[in-house]
Amino acid sequence: MRIWDGPAAVTGDDRSIKATDCNPWIGKAPPVGRTGSQKTCLYRHQPVSRGQGKAYKFRAINWASRIDEQTRKAFSGVEIRWAFTSKMIRAKLAKEGMMLDSPETAMARLMNDGFTHVAVLSLHTIPGEEFHELNQNAQLFGQMAGGFEKILVARPLLSSAKDMETVAGTLMKNIPGRKPEDAVLFMGHGTGHHPADAIYLAMNQVFQEIDPRTFVGTVEGKLTIETLLPKLKQLKAKKVYLVPMMSVAGDHAKNDMAGDEPESWKSVLTRNGYQCESILRGTADYPEIVEVWLDHLRTVLAHF
Ligand code: CO
Repeated sequence: MRIWDGPAAVTGDDRSIKATDCNPWIGKAPPVGRTGSQKTCLYRHQPVSRGQGKAYKFRAINWASRIDEQTRKAFSGVEIRWAFTSKMIRAKLAKEGMMLDSPETAMARLMNDGFTHVAVLSLHTIPGEEFHELNQNAQLFGQMAGGFEKILVARPLLSSAKDMETVAGTLMKNIPGRKPEDAVLFMGHGTGHHPADAIYLAMNQVFQEIDPRTFVGTVEGKLTIETLLPKLKQLKAKKVYLVPMMSVAGDHAKNDMAGDEPESWKSVLTRNGYQCESILRGTADYPEIVEVWLDHLRTVLAHF
């Protein structure tokens, strides 16, 4: 194994390093050197989100760099590469000269570069449709003749009761200025077409056990802001904190949660007489939460 800290190509036995078009924005040139015969590589990927070109660039970099740094510290000596699932983000960044790999391209490159053991860390929040697609394609790569000896996919953020408690506990500890009587609404993404949407109902329960004045709602799932309004009314709260429960405080958090459009959570709640305060930090902004993802990676690496 060797440390990989930037654009690299491995050729034959001399493993000369040269810049390629993959992940040009992370880190410095990697050290050159021989490695053992078993090579391990990790790569992770970003969930789909929407927004505009420039914003993407900086958001993707800041977000990824923080996780990247923490991952490299925890897994020094392991090659780490990134891949991005969103076609839209890849196309937009490509126009700005930033070429990002899809998970499938990244897996093909790894195979081509002779890696034998690959761990994929899904940076999704729930094991929903996107996670299952990633998992399926990784398994298919694992079946190719002459390909990897082993490829394993680490689970996304909310994969066990313990994960949920850690994430909920961390988010609850980071609401500056909140008084005990203030309510808190967490915004998850949610999905209308995958059973993993039930994880948001489970998270709602976990938050309720920590503090009955906290609820989970989603953008696209069953728990909408409309389902939360009657619960808030019962609390007789005056002030509501809005907190994203997504890896990045991106478009959904900035617009659907904290935006000024009439249908945003902030607008709906303001119309209903609540004072709102938004916290624009994604789950990936908390090192304790990133550690939950990294634990899933440790679990997978223990099976190599
Ligand atoms: Co969305």
